[in-house]
Amino acid sequence: MIRLIDVDKTYGDGVNFQALDGICLDVQDHEFVSITGPSGSGKTTLLNLIGTLDKPTGGQIFYDDTDVTSLNGNQLADYRRNVVGFVFQSYNLLPQLTALENVMYPLIPYKKQDQNRAHARELLQKMGLEDKTNQLPDQLSGGEQQRVAIARALTNHPRVILADEPTGNLDSASGAKVMEILLELHRCEGITVVLVTHDERLASMADRTVHLADGRIVSVQ
Ligand SMILES: Nc1ncnc2c1ncn2[C@@H]1O[C@H](COP(=O)(O)OP(=O)(O)OP(=O)(O)O)[C@@H](O)[C@H]1O
Ligand SMILES: [Mg+2]
Repeated sequence: MIRLIDVDKTYGDGVNFQALDGICLDVQDHEFVSITGPSGSGKTTLLNLIGTLDKPTGGQIFYDDTDVTSLNGNQLADYRRNVVGFVFQSYNLLPQLTALENVMYPLIPYKKQDQNRAHARELLQKMGLEDKTNQLPDQLSGGEQQRVAIARALTNHPRVILADEPTGNLDSASGAKVMEILLELHRCEGITVVLVTHDERLASMADRTVHLADGRIVSVQ
């Protein structure tokens, strides 16, 4: 489904820093891949490139037969909205919107509001948050906020969920719950998951673990 061919990423102009160097990686449809490695090894950079949030400075990234590195801004935004769901370590919820409104947010321009609301409610219910729909993010625990963020990532029926340290700010019980949800989305709904994590135990639950060091893939297990 996703194919990276000899992908490089260099930051800066003048003083350059090569964050990724010659990455070749295939992610199959319905696969659960974890990416692990030391701080600064390029995990977030790699995930952002896979998610088309940023462009590589070299190489190509294919989704099926589409080279996403050749898409323009609008095409890319459409692609991202319809194919990819993001989950971040810091949840990135909008603080002034309720849980329900946060989940509806990616849908606003598209469908009827009442349909949107029903869909968002259903997703929150799936995350075990049916009684928290009207609460603001700061009225929710970290684990609950992350589950709202997962529901939001699911609104447009993505094929792939890209999660960057989604359990990084959570205690182990809340982290385990978030991991369980990701595994279930993968197992039951066939969603492809790419998970960045420092946690070797979580990483090992994936079908495959990619180890990065200094911007290169050092092993795949
Ligand atoms: N916008 C940027 N400009 C310049 N350098 C950057 C930028 N973003 C990342 N880097 C550098 O690229 C390298 C890889 O960063 P990245 O965030 O991908 O690491 P990471 O593996 O996700 O680390 P962590 O585990 O700490 O999140 C780091 O050395 C970082 O300093
Ligand atoms: Mg990172």
